[in-house]
Amino acid sequence: MGNSNLDTDFYESEDPIWNPALLTIPVPGIRRMVNLAADMDDVIHLSIGQPDFKPPEHVIQAGVDALYAGQTGYTMDAGLPELLDSLAEYYSKRYQRTLVPENFLVTTGATEALYLALTATSAPGREFIVPDPSFMLYGPLIRMNGGIVRSIATRAENNHQLDPQEVIDAMGPNTFAVILNSPSNPTGTIYPRETIDAIVEEAAYRGIHVISDEVYDHLIYDGKDYPSVLSSCPDLDHVMVISSFSKTFSMAGMRVGWLIGSQGAIKKLRRYHMFTTTVANTPCQWAGVAALRGSNQFIDSMVEEYQGRRDRLVELVEQTPHLTGYKPDGAFYLFPSLPEGVDGANVALKLLRETGVCTISGDTFGDAGRNALRISYSTSLDQIEEAFSRIIPWMEKQNFS
Ligand SMILES: Cc1ncc(COP(=O)(O)O)c(C=O)c1O
Repeated sequence: MGNSNLDTDFYESEDPIWNPALLTIPVPGIRRMVNLAADMDDVIHLSIGQPDFKPPEHVIQAGVDALYAGQTGYTMDAGLPELLDSLAEYYSKRYQRTLVPENFLVTTGATEALYLALTATSAPGREFIVPDPSFMLYGPLIRMNGGIVRSIATRAENNHQLDPQEVIDAMGPNTFAVILNSPSNPTGTIYPRETIDAIVEEAAYRGIHVISDEVYDHLIYDGKDYPSVLSSCPDLDHVMVISSFSKTFSMAGMRVGWLIGSQGAIKKLRRYHMFTTTVANTPCQWAGVAALRGSNQFIDSMVEEYQGRRDRLVELVEQTPHLTGYKPDGAFYLFPSLPEGVDGANVALKLLRETGVCTISGDTFGDAGRNALRISYSTSLDQIEEAFSRIIPWMEKQNFS
């Protein structure tokens, strides 16, 4: 299988009860680091993958009110009708195109939406083009059902931008879909409109699907416009867009997300969803209605705070020996490179043991990131400053040649 992240205990086990498809699931690099950090004192986490804010008060209240109002049963299988209406209204307005409730399926976080989209379409011989590095769920969910991942490497020197021509050149007769994630976890990179347009247009021409994970679609800095796949595609025939409340409203544990697609695709996936999680959490779907219908003030102040942290982090990375950074435009991650050939997993481990700063090694997100570290700024500026007051002198002492 050639993947050093595989759980070797499991791989070597003779235990016959498990479906071999589970071999595609690596030991998560994030868990490895966080578990080690849990046994240490005075750890600073630059490893967090969820917002460090409290959700807006009115959103929490709506969830609590729903509980007291007895909203504790199942909803309709596609989702709470009020949430489907709110999503259709919200997206139609945001991207100035008509979307109807039947274009939406409410899921248990974006994770379930990704699970449905990828496992319902992946099949032996079908190829999926996936940027590398990328969010660690995509590859295993594709490989689990026999699909093939075609990686397109991106680099820190190029702000981890995806070259649309490279994506187009990778398209072939067996290509089923291109996976996009902008802003990206782990790089924070936003693909410009020209990149999205070029990929969406060529994919539509060839009948290839575009599956776009847009969970960070509101964490956009410097007042930039967000180029969603939804504003590039004339129809939804070959497009699935996935998002959730997790990052935008700091509701990761409330587990509500959605998939946007053609009415035909939604109809098909609704059935699969019923056999997967049945429905998403009912009171939290009511909280989601309040989030979409409320003001944008929470998002605006969160974005302002993240932008300040991003700016400072970019400076600090620039001052750090051996790290090549760049300025990401979104999400809350930076994915700087170490010199070519340096093993990021060793560096992350040693850095944690010797300084107490927990980052995530780049190999968690694919082979192209082996010499990188993912640094999350979903933590306070004070913690970021303290972390780099440890990292910089430590890096000065390293000799990677
Ligand atoms: C790119 C990306 N997609 C999806 C998810 C999962 O989001 P959710 O909490 O909505 O399941 C995450 C969470 O970290 C993510 O970073």
